[in-house]
Amino acid sequence: MTNWTPSSWRAKPAKHIPEDYPDTDHVAAVETTLSGYPPLVFAGEARRLKSRLADVAMGKAFLMQGGDCAESFREFHPDNLRDMFRVMMQMAVVLTYGGGKPVVKVGRIAGQFAKPRTSPIETIDGVTLPSYRGDNINSMEFSPESRTPDPERLLKAYGQSASTLNLIRAFSTGGYANLRNIHKWTLGFVGDSEQTKKYQELCDKITDAMDFMEACGVTPDSTPQMAATEYYTSHEGLLLGYEQAMTRIDSTTGRWYDTSAHMLWIGNRTRQLDGAHVEFFKGIENPIAMKCGPEMEPDDLLRLIDVLNPANEPGRLTLIARYGHERVAAELPTLARAVKKEGRHVVWSCDPMHGNTLKTDSGYKTRPFDRILAEVKNFMRVLHAEDSWPGGVHFEMTGQNVTECLGGAKAVREEDLSSRYHTHCDPRLNADQALELAFLIAEELRANRMEKPAALAG
Ligand code: PEP
Ligand code: CO
Repeated sequence: MTNWTPSSWRAKPAKHIPEDYPDTDHVAAVETTLSGYPPLVFAGEARRLKSRLADVAMGKAFLMQGGDCAESFREFHPDNLRDMFRVMMQMAVVLTYGGGKPVVKVGRIAGQFAKPRTSPIETIDGVTLPSYRGDNINSMEFSPESRTPDPERLLKAYGQSASTLNLIRAFSTGGYANLRNIHKWTLGFVGDSEQTKKYQELCDKITDAMDFMEACGVTPDSTPQMAATEYYTSHEGLLLGYEQAMTRIDSTTGRWYDTSAHMLWIGNRTRQLDGAHVEFFKGIENPIAMKCGPEMEPDDLLRLIDVLNPANEPGRLTLIARYGHERVAAELPTLARAVKKEGRHVVWSCDPMHGNTLKTDSGYKTRPFDRILAEVKNFMRVLHAEDSWPGGVHFEMTGQNVTECLGGAKAVREEDLSSRYHTHCDPRLNADQALELAFLIAEELRANRMEKPAALAG
């Protein structure tokens, strides 16, 4: 990789990076400022995540990656961060128990702002303006000023990412995540739900086991894994100017790391082999992911794997399949087979959100919960049948009691969508739906643990 530099992407065609900043010198000045700011994460942390993901690639652990579709300046509040963190902790407990394997926790958080949009423009009542592209670019409000990209927003997003990360580090290591607290992670508004009851029953069993272990001398004081948790950050590496500014040489290894997050992924719309995003990603040492959507051919995938993970390093590359509940069973097997046949080490993860989005007659973008569940199930069964490990899930959720996805045990109906529809981009699972998803995955993991692959083929 002799010609790679953090700026070599600039010579390649770049999709979904705004070109309509009124003052490009201002953008360059902001990027220079950012390049002098402290890193948000350390290279050593990114390396540790890579080794955890290597365990996932080898079928020894499970990846859980989730959070907002788009973080926003407006929803930035410690309570929202805490609620999202605790739902992920609850999900991790359910999955660890059900799957019998360590769960690697990665948030779509502390940097997940920029969005690729299907259309660059939006028309309302005959007025056409640029689309909203994420709070680090422009504002959701429908006015010409708000929709004009403003580079100062990059600095605000950096600041929000830094304080978000600070709070998450405190939650993870400062006592909140102690396994002795599992009963307390339940959110007030889901107190009476079926999922919460199931969760509390599980906590009772775990608490009994911990009492027993404590009697044997294993306590949170003696075993740090019980007193704290590892929680990593990730976002789509879309705005390459920002990512370049955050990319630094690690003094320990002399290698380049993008210090904006532990893990970054390439979106489904920016994974062109000769494009700017693939160019940038191939030179950073972080663990990376790539979305794989409909119509991806096995040969294209193998070429991308060659470029993104030439050393075939386990944990380096996660493939996030996002097909939709029906297409996954038809299109994933050929990819999984090709990867397996060529002996490539990847983590296979399932994003059951982005292929299952639809618009209701009343104009709400939503996702039916049963299709989300169906996609995860199909994904797991396909990989199991291909004798590969269904290593993880990638989902959009919030700890809030929103009504954005249809269905779930506490059925959100079409007429409910308007009551608490707060997302800045795609519809998210609410806390109850997220927990229900975790129980389903745990059941599948348990079923697959018990049966031989062939029994689930077809
Ligand atoms: C996303 O993850 O929010 C997203 C835009 O996904 P995709 O690239 O798979 O469409
Ligand atoms: Co999304």
